[in-house]
Amino acid sequence: MEKQVLLYEGKAKKVYATGDPHLLIVSYKDDATAFNGLKKGTIQGKGAINNRMSNLLMSRLEQQGVPTHLVKELNDRETLVKKVSIVPLEVIVRNIAAGSFSKRYGVEEGLVFDAPTLEFSYKNDDLGDPLLNDDHALALGLASREELDLIRKYSLSVNRLLREIWGACGITLVDFKVEFGRLEDGTIVLADEISPDTCRLWDSKTLEKLDKDRFRRDLGGVEAAYVQVMNRLTGGL
Ligand code: TMP
Repeated sequence: MEKQVLLYEGKAKKVYATGDPHLLIVSYKDDATAFNGLKKGTIQGKGAINNRMSNLLMSRLEQQGVPTHLVKELNDRETLVKKVSIVPLEVIVRNIAAGSFSKRYGVEEGLVFDAPTLEFSYKNDDLGDPLLNDDHALALGLASREELDLIRKYSLSVNRLLREIWGACGITLVDFKVEFGRLEDGTIVLADEISPDTCRLWDSKTLEKLDKDRFRRDLGGVEAAYVQVMNRLTGGL
């Protein structure tokens, strides 16, 4: 399958049309941004790592009953995916307080929750992706009640499965963001990516941060953290 016209360029990926109207090619970039694009940089090798890692994780999730957009990895940076229309919600699942949760509610990073929390943000860069609840999402017509319920159910399954996968690699899944899309027939599938850009991953023993927070917070060793996470996932250590 060949790339055709560039349909969309986001902060970390490009999306191309293909000869098949139901399929797209996603190409992962090394570009990194944070704080709604205010901070910009490059994480050398990130595109190839995120492409491979997201595909490995999505194929495991698919095997466990979570439908995804994944069709086939084409090469280092490119993957064939089902064409979806993205539901404009960022779904964030948290197991441990960190990031915006800690800031908003004034709690220390590292507070372990008894049960996972799930929150929605309105995927809208101009508005700064504001937090919203189910009623707001319904009022704005972003998704139906049935879709919200399904998205919640899938997101909690993703959390349970990802915690198992990362746990087996000695990594604690602190939180993550996922996005869903609708196929032409309305079926909801997991879309976008799952990578250290979109998850907080801490070494289970040392609590060292092994994700994009190293870039967001200028902690150094960004590339090495991505490589380490990838190696641990593929049992390369
Ligand atoms: P937050 O604590 O900043 O709200 O982030 C929660 C999780 O969502 C964290 O794993 C990072 C991820 N995330 C994204 O993938 N994209 C974003 O634009 C933001 C703000 C967070």
